[in-house]
Amino acid sequence: MSGIQELPDELQLAAAAHVKYIQSLDTKKDEYEYWLTEHLRLNGLYWGLTALHLLRHPDALPRGEAIDFVLSCQHESGGFGAAPGHDAHMLYTVSAVQIFVLLDALDELEKRGKGNGKAQVGKFLADLQNRETGTFAGDEWGEEDTRFLYGALNALSLLGLLHLVDVNKAVDYIAACANYDGGYGVSPGAETHSGQIFTCLAALSIAGRKDLIDADKLGGWLSERQVACGGLNGRPEKKEDVCYNWWVLSSLEMIGRTHWVDREKLIKFTLSCQDSERGGLSDRPGDMVDIWHTFFGLTGLSLLKYPGVEAIDPVYCLPKYTIDRVFGKAG
Ligand code: FPP
Ligand code: ZN
Repeated sequence: MSGIQELPDELQLAAAAHVKYIQSLDTKKDEYEYWLTEHLRLNGLYWGLTALHLLRHPDALPRGEAIDFVLSCQHESGGFGAAPGHDAHMLYTVSAVQIFVLLDALDELEKRGKGNGKAQVGKFLADLQNRETGTFAGDEWGEEDTRFLYGALNALSLLGLLHLVDVNKAVDYIAACANYDGGYGVSPGAETHSGQIFTCLAALSIAGRKDLIDADKLGGWLSERQVACGGLNGRPEKKEDVCYNWWVLSSLEMIGRTHWVDREKLIKFTLSCQDSERGGLSDRPGDMVDIWHTFFGLTGLSLLKYPGVEAIDPVYCLPKYTIDRVFGKAG
């Protein structure tokens, strides 16, 4: 921890301001529908609630209303949309499951969810697998992307329903997305991108196939994402951005190489992106704050073991204690 405590006041984590900022996004107190931009509401709720857990203020937003809002976004198919009346999609369905896990409310999904509760959600997700290639579509329109493959394995494993899909085929698909630099792209042959590296590594972790990763080569590529100012970029020649704290560091953590970046420089860069008075973090110093960068900035600080920030699971992007609760580990 050396060096961190001696940072000037403006480079201390403004935790109280961040809690207030996240609470303020819920401008209409009783209506979670007004949380963020319309097409991102359910994701936004997941980012905001998880950030509050990382800041150790899990009750700063009302739990019952959050559960009611998530349930109001569900379709008969079992899938969830971004907001009530929006089409069901893989990514919102994953956010819904993550919120139920975060709030220790999987029993509410079982009791109050559409159709067969958890099993209905599992069927929605499993039906999106392309049984020939092993990958997944995001919705009925069929766009495929490793984000959706990861999302399906994430949510299905949290629901205890991984057996509904062909995990071996999914693993084969990820293996086909591997590049000569040790990284992964959005589909076979596509350029390496740290967001896609996260999705592929996390999916391989859930499938129990991390043996397929070239950890040294990939660790080298990931650690080269740190630029002179201490921040991380997502690909060579791109600008640093606080959201890559998550995609890059979670990937390094999954291969046991988080120490391959300069921790203190990255912490200083991250803290210089916060608005210490009004709360929130931005992509780089001086820019406008938003919930996406606030969330991923905090997840990065968590992986860097910043004092006072709750530990996050690098595979599920949820606080470690919630994952331990689901998988029955003590503590
Ligand atoms: C970069 O996006 C990130 C990705 C491509 C991965 C996104 C993964 C998910 C949405 C899956 C669910 C994630 C979690 C944490 C549970 P970008 O749009 O910033 O990329 P760019 O910098 O190339 O524009
Ligand atoms: Zn960003």
